[in-house]
Amino acid sequence: MVKVLIGFMGSGKSTIAALLDPDFIDMDSVLKEKIGMPIADFFAQKGEAAFREMEEQTLDQLLKKEQVLSTGGGVVISPANRVLLAKHRDVIYLKADFDTLYERIASDSKNQRPLFLNKSRKDLKAIFKERQVWYEEVANQIIDVTGKTPIEIIEEIR
Ligand code: S3P
Repeated sequence: MVKVLIGFMGSGKSTIAALLDPDFIDMDSVLKEKIGMPIADFFAQKGEAAFREMEEQTLDQLLKKEQVLSTGGGVVISPANRVLLAKHRDVIYLKADFDTLYERIASDSKNQRPLFLNKSRKDLKAIFKERQVWYEEVANQIIDVTGKTPIEIIEEIR
């Protein structure tokens, strides 16, 4: 079974996945391909619920692949996805505090997340708090990534 990285936006899931496995699968890229447009556009045109449905329809297949999987931060919203993740043996939660994550999300001009664009800082913090329980519930390993370099993080994972 391969490693699955979970965590809030800005926790470094794709960076760490790429270091663990240059051939890793990025769930957001798969979804982007499936929906045929950037995720932010899909949120604007079809709404968040439609995106969550796509996420739910996709995780199952991706967990069967042999590569490291980097998930989107909202993958744990779906109860069905949480069941799938909880069954998996190697789910790693990259944990950081909200202020660190918010700063990273806000300064990431190349990846403008719809939730960052559409929600206030206060709303995003409430979402973070709600999800944190779910990330911890389904993870087999929790790594506090705050202040650590990617190399330090992958050493902890291995
Ligand atoms: C989302 C996180 C994003 C992406 C979408 C929704 C979320 O992925 O799936 O914008 O709800 O947290 P990253 O965690 O890779 O930024």
